[in-house]
Amino acid sequence: MVMFKLGVIGGGAMGAALIGGVIRNGLISADKIGLVEVDQPRGQALQSNLGIQLFSSVASMAAECQTIILAIKPIQLFAILTELGTQLCEKHLVISIAAGVPLAAMENSLPQARIVRVMPNTPARIGKGVSAYCLGQRASGTDAEKVEAIFGCVGKVLRVSEDKLDAVTAVSGSGPAYVYYFIDALINAGVYLGLPRKDAAVLATETVLGAAELLKNSGEHPRQLMNEVTSPGGTTAAALFEFEKAGFAGLVMQAAIAAAERSREIGKGIR
Ligand SMILES: NC(=O)c1ccc[n+]([C@@H]2O[C@H](COP(=O)([O-])OP(=O)(O)OC[C@H]3O[C@@H](n4cnc5c(N)ncnc54)[C@H](OP(=O)(O)O)[C@@H]3O)[C@@H](O)[C@H]2O)c1
Repeated sequence: MVMFKLGVIGGGAMGAALIGGVIRNGLISADKIGLVEVDQPRGQALQSNLGIQLFSSVASMAAECQTIILAIKPIQLFAILTELGTQLCEKHLVISIAAGVPLAAMENSLPQARIVRVMPNTPARIGKGVSAYCLGQRASGTDAEKVEAIFGCVGKVLRVSEDKLDAVTAVSGSGPAYVYYFIDALINAGVYLGLPRKDAAVLATETVLGAAELLKNSGEHPRQLMNEVTSPGGTTAAALFEFEKAGFAGLVMQAAIAAAERSREIGKGIR
């Protein structure tokens, strides 16, 4: 258990996942975690379910918490930075998970604070996320350790340079949605072929989960594992031929490139 007080602004999908993970892993006790949340019923539910403290303003949070996570939408971020600007000093570490918003823009708004940018993903809700972070100019090695400890509670953590964060957003930040899209399509294929939807859902989900675990545990290349399933003249070869004809790999790459481009646009304030 560490002895710093953690403030979180925004208790939505990611904020709640982070708070839950940090408490579950015993990194910080619930009474040392504070939340500012504009959606009052949501804030109160998190307070009563997790035993955290609710702050009524970012100013009151900043007075008590020297480590603050910004878990609000990019569009909501600059109003919060303006509010925080006068409240923070060099003792504050601010960790932003907002997609696209560059360190320099936040460092301009918060000229005193140390800033770190992190891109997590939603499997953080069950401790199976993956996050990549980059340090701002004023952030230190100790800040990096703190970020790794916090985000390590909800999955794996990598350090990257900031110019890679749009790519990270495109691969792992948005990535869970691509995987759900694929699973949904596979379930529908099963239903089309006559399987009850419930059975198709179990078969498709467990297949994706098992294939990912095998890939991770074996250390083999995806192509090698594909070849293992693909016998000459067989069923998988027939299916993979359809993927090839439809340009599936190119489509996945185009989709990720579009996500990275959108991340860059958000960083430039383009709505
Ligand atoms: N979800 C993802 O897959 C994912 C992955 C990586 C990074 N991120 C980043 O994580 C951040 C949060 O995303 P999310 O999906 O958790 O969003 P979310 O579910 O919308 O959560 C944001 C929460 O903050 C509240 N809020 C808005 N303005 C506020 C303010 N001024 N003070 C306090 N609370 C405020 C929102 O309330 P209202 O709903 O009433 O506005 C909402 O409850 C975003 O910047 C996003 O780019 C998300």
